[in-house]
Amino acid sequence: MLVPMATSLKLFIFSSFLSLMITSSIAQTSFRPKALALPITKDVTSSLPQYITQIKQRTPLVPVKLTLDLGGGYLWVNCENRQYVSSTFKPARCGSSQCSLFGLTGCSGDKICGRSPSNTVTGVSSYGDIHSDVVSVNSTDGTTPTKVVSVPNFLFICGSKVVQNGLAKGVTGMAGLGRTRVSLPSQFSSAFSFHRKFAICLTANSGADGVMFFGDGPYNLNQDVSKVLTYTPLITNPVSTAPSAFLGEPSVEYFIGVKSVKVSEKNVPLNTTLLSINKNGVGGTKISTVNPYTVMETTIYKAVADAFVKSLGAPTVSPVAPFGTCFATKDISFSRIGPGVPAIDLVLQNGVEWPIIGANSMVQFDDVICLGFVDAGSNPKASQVGFVNGGSHPVTSITIGAHQLENNLLKFDLAASRLGFRSLFLEHDNCQNFRFTSST
Ligand SMILES: *[C@@H]1O[C@H](CO)[C@@H](O)[C@H](O)[C@H]1NC(C)=O
Ligand SMILES: *[C@@H]1O[C@H](CO)[C@@H](O)[C@H](O)[C@H]1NC(C)=O
Repeated sequence: MLVPMATSLKLFIFSSFLSLMITSSIAQTSFRPKALALPITKDVTSSLPQYITQIKQRTPLVPVKLTLDLGGGYLWVNCENRQYVSSTFKPARCGSSQCSLFGLTGCSGDKICGRSPSNTVTGVSSYGDIHSDVVSVNSTDGTTPTKVVSVPNFLFICGSKVVQNGLAKGVTGMAGLGRTRVSLPSQFSSAFSFHRKFAICLTANSGADGVMFFGDGPYNLNQDVSKVLTYTPLITNPVSTAPSAFLGEPSVEYFIGVKSVKVSEKNVPLNTTLLSINKNGVGGTKISTVNPYTVMETTIYKAVADAFVKSLGAPTVSPVAPFGTCFATKDISFSRIGPGVPAIDLVLQNGVEWPIIGANSMVQFDDVICLGFVDAGSNPKASQVGFVNGGSHPVTSITIGAHQLENNLLKFDLAASRLGFRSLFLEHDNCQNFRFTSST
């Protein structure tokens, strides 16, 4: 079932690269939303956490749960068998402008274009036809949901059971937010003439909703947190890092320029070659909502973990997988902003720092508390579910994972190619303070 697309390139008919806009119109109404707000829940029912959002799709509308994939190129859902019933389900005909929005595509015997939906949790890809259907979501004034709005011809790829396997219970696809013309941010921006901006705020608490905004702020949690962001440039990796891509395609994931790492304000000695992206797409730092924890190339992991252990000054205990550096919980002090441990700062290319506070750096298991980073080199778990970063695609040196993103607002400004970030702990706020229920 696996189709390594880079090698099966010749089998596909290429569609043209016409630069066409999505022609979806705003449904039924002249109401033009300023932004959209979708909930993000943390699912802890599988072995590793997944972050789930929900849209409504099809006619009649049904709720569709999707695993959030920040670096995914598009929306895909399982359409197999009786999974998919809709009177507004339309195939994208080979050669159409809809197909060309996906870049390179194949063409099936039914003359429907397609490409490969990938499950980036398991690394499994297959081939699927491109379709469109109605998608319905809540708009927002920045504070609460305001009005339901629809995109009549939202494009997506049909996945299958094989690709769906490994997603959290009740989830039938993935919501890609990556740098393509068909990702959720791009299609919503085109449909509603939004600024090409979106924001994610992952909750640490599986019992409360975090939030994702499409369009510009204000993004009101307790306050307008879009005003307190630090910015750093987004970087493009010229080589795809996805489980499945055509040769020559750039990565659609979000990379940032980490120049050094500090522990307790002191620079950790690292091989800086690993921190830049080379011509084969290897190295550098990306952000992922699919990796539950930050994964580091083995020499970077060891250097950071050593500096952390020395600075903390507490004895280490037997580690709990997938982690390699753990302590007795009784040796750690706790405050409002979490475990009192040495600060870890990512120093970014424009000189700004991304602080990783204790709540984001540590993962607690009752009596044991671990540095929540995974060694990509030596930990066998690293190549298993949730840490897909190998195979035939280039290996990234640092993948900043979801635990480290929790309760941080991340705003992706695609037109300016920059990322705004802020730890909401530092604002006495958090990602679950958006009021989904007090809708008027
Ligand atoms: C809009 O938000 C309300 C309140 O949270 C929710 O019940 C409803 O399902 C949402 N609608 C859509 C289309 O997601
Ligand atoms: C640094 O990393 C690069 C890329 O992996 C490697 O070629 C080089 O040998 C490393 N340098 C040192 C001093 O280990």
